[in-house]
Amino acid sequence: MDIVNISPKVSGPVSGDIGTAINPPRPVHLLQRIVESKFKEDSNINALHTQEPELIFSPTEHLNISPPCQRFTFKDLKLPRPTTAASPIAATSPFPLFAAAAIPLLRKALLNPTYLNKTASVYSNSTLIIRNTAAYSAFFRKIWTHPMVMRAVSDAAGVELEVFMETVEIGHANVQIDFKKYQGMEHAKCMQAISKGLTSGEFALEAAGSGRSGVAVRGQKEIEDEIFGDGGSIIPWHYDSYPFVCVAMLSDTTDMIGGETVIQRGDGTFQGISQPSAGFATILQGGFVRHLALRARGTTDRITLVTSYRAKAVGLYDGSFLTNVRPYTNLNVLYPQWIAFRNKILSREQNLSVSFIAKYNRHTERQMIPKLHIDQLVARFGIAVFYTVIDGYVSGKVFASAPMACPLCMCKAGGGVGKAHIAICPGVKSKWMPYSELWIDVQRSRVMLRNSSISFEATTCRPDIVAVVEKFRDEGREWGMADELAVQGLAEYLVELLALFGIVVGA
Ligand SMILES: [Fe+2]
Ligand SMILES: [Zn+2]
Repeated sequence: MDIVNISPKVSGPVSGDIGTAINPPRPVHLLQRIVESKFKEDSNINALHTQEPELIFSPTEHLNISPPCQRFTFKDLKLPRPTTAASPIAATSPFPLFAAAAIPLLRKALLNPTYLNKTASVYSNSTLIIRNTAAYSAFFRKIWTHPMVMRAVSDAAGVELEVFMETVEIGHANVQIDFKKYQGMEHAKCMQAISKGLTSGEFALEAAGSGRSGVAVRGQKEIEDEIFGDGGSIIPWHYDSYPFVCVAMLSDTTDMIGGETVIQRGDGTFQGISQPSAGFATILQGGFVRHLALRARGTTDRITLVTSYRAKAVGLYDGSFLTNVRPYTNLNVLYPQWIAFRNKILSREQNLSVSFIAKYNRHTERQMIPKLHIDQLVARFGIAVFYTVIDGYVSGKVFASAPMACPLCMCKAGGGVGKAHIAICPGVKSKWMPYSELWIDVQRSRVMLRNSSISFEATTCRPDIVAVVEKFRDEGREWGMADELAVQGLAEYLVELLALFGIVVGA
């Protein structure tokens, strides 16, 4: 199927009446061309090169692959397997992937001072996030896309995987770091110092401690204490934006305690997945299982590589979001790769209905919140709120300190501003992006929900989306913009919308 042939005049059954009348849908190939030409400088990976001598990748020297001892199915975790979950495997125990000889080279390529300034951003006072290393390092690109590595991660996952997007998600790393050491330094200088600190001395040598598979999983009681205690988890409960993730360790974990990935089982209990040792990796179907990451102790140096995948199967709906990555990714790189990858997935499919294609393309487009808008929101609210706002909205937690009277329409009815009022407030449409196509989406969703026809939750089967819709149905109220933003994973806009109502989402 050639997507270039999509007629701009035809669109989905509902958008036909509401959408096209106001704003005819743009053909996606046109959108792709606009996005690509706009961001050309940043996304042209061939133009980028380093002055460092090239690290040579050798599969025999740098790979050391064995399958995982344990694989947890959805059934093992007492979870129903969503129909769009491509494999019955929800998670694996750590398995060997990279040989000890590869560790210092991976660190060198990841922290290369000639481009670290472009790939790294400060995420919090203890975490540096590195993105898109594969655009700068052939070594990284080769090792992660090598057939043996692709085979290993696919076998562990129980289905053939493909890396999500061209380069952005290859060479993503979370680097735990003590920024106090670098206080007062400007960004470029700071990156130089971090690079030197983490690639020289002991770090330049072949990593020790890769003999065991992972950091021991603690007992159920200890895990619960960490989850419910204060500040135990470094990443709160969430689903990943993409279906599969591979987490590989680049640090010596000999003295490391904890740091488990914890999965919530269907019965409410917890499954701890141990942190891999240096050179080891784990696979998680993170788009479909609710999980968090506990803090690791006993170590200061901790570098994990996080690579994201989807199943390469034809006929499998891709319900991926950019929610988790937008706030810390160079959008000039992210958006062209996102749209190209989404189009590639679509181009493999056959016999898709026009309304399906319209829905798919709409999802692709909606994920690309303008850079300026995100920058302003991050400056105003910080980054942490974007990772908690959807959960807080759905559970109702964000309304704990909501104002009694609505600041938009001044009404005082019914015990404070809540979900029901936000959905129907007569003041909101003129105050929040009145010309946005998202208002058309709200209308479309209302019609769909009323007809209980196939909707977003049925298409994606993502448990987080299903939860939003189920909760909404329980509440017996009207569907509104906040609900629409929640199911579309547009956390940044949701924060902005709630703030208009005087609801400030705390970190
Ligand atoms: Fe995750
Ligand atoms: Zn109101």
